[in-house]
Amino acid sequence: MSNFPRFFPSSRADLGTDRWPFSPPRSKGYNTDGFNVVIRVRLAPVAPLKRISPIMTIERIDSREVGLLIGLILGKRLLKSDDLHYGYWPPGLKVESANWAQAQSNHSDLIVANIPGGVKTILDVGCGAGAFAKKLTERGYQVECVTPSRLLAQEAQKLLGGQCPIHVTKFEHLETDSRYDLILFSESFQYVGMGKSLPKAVRLLNPGGHLLICDFFKKDVEDDGALGGGHRLEKFYRRIDEQPFESVTDLDITNEVAPTMDLVNDFLLQVGLPIRDLVFAFIAGRYPYLFRFLNWKYREKLKQVDEKYFQGQRNAEAFIRHKSYRLMLYRLRPA
Ligand SMILES: C[S@@+](CC[C@H](N)C(=O)[O-])C[C@H]1O[C@@H](n2cnc3c(N)ncnc32)[C@H](O)[C@@H]1O
Repeated sequence: MSNFPRFFPSSRADLGTDRWPFSPPRSKGYNTDGFNVVIRVRLAPVAPLKRISPIMTIERIDSREVGLLIGLILGKRLLKSDDLHYGYWPPGLKVESANWAQAQSNHSDLIVANIPGGVKTILDVGCGAGAFAKKLTERGYQVECVTPSRLLAQEAQKLLGGQCPIHVTKFEHLETDSRYDLILFSESFQYVGMGKSLPKAVRLLNPGGHLLICDFFKKDVEDDGALGGGHRLEKFYRRIDEQPFESVTDLDITNEVAPTMDLVNDFLLQVGLPIRDLVFAFIAGRYPYLFRFLNWKYREKLKQVDEKYFQGQRNAEAFIRHKSYRLMLYRLRPA
């Protein structure tokens, strides 16, 4: 692997605003034990994304990134885990939050167990907060990471202490001369465009290299329900067939990861919903006109959020009906 600077953006576009390098923002956040929460306040905005006062702007953050960052805060604080993926619940492991970290660790162990012998260099695509890259380096692999999220990259850099170069870019935009023995997508494949990413993986692999994907896909069923995300499985199989890969492993682990959704559902209904209702009641009591206006202005958005998160539909049963969670290993065929 080439000797990259430890932490760098791959292109200006990946920095969120193309002026950013010329006017570094002052960061101000709630420092929760090393986790620097998201809000960047610019005193002299150069390319404001959303102006909230003449002297303040808030950087626009992708909603999926917000979800991941909330997951990271809750995981770190409540569940003692830096992982940002589902848990693997074998029979006998009780589905309760006390076992969350264990289930996530089982998931990582399953991936590690499926890394073929002889692999030395790994590109961890969508490295989250770096927890899995850390495990890999502890097992002696040379790892480079990719993430488009600057905030997650900062977390990963703290955790990895500079052991792994981090490319702050989308995988689709990654530019590198390095080649890898294995490219890993641990729950990050659903975020990348398949059309660009599969040929790119082919180009970035050493001869005989491997592609390992552990993620969920959409089944061919009518309605996605409250559960979004994932490429269509049939479409994925068609796309991968167009590439010079041969399948080594294709494990269906949907039933073992699905209980994760029951815990998420419990959390949303028992913690998220009462907090939401309390906040709404507070605003309605204090600022009735503002509340009515906001309720009217954002009625569609609020309805969507309610249907998605607070109707009890994000559970294991729905997950099994709509998704197929798979661990798939492919080997590059000789040219
Ligand atoms: C659910 S997290 C998985 C994190 C980690 N791999 C794990 O297993 O814990 C998804 C990750 O994919 C990253 N991601 C999203 N879009 C991406 C893209 N286009 N290219 C590379 N990574 C992406 C996110 O920033 C995040 O780090």
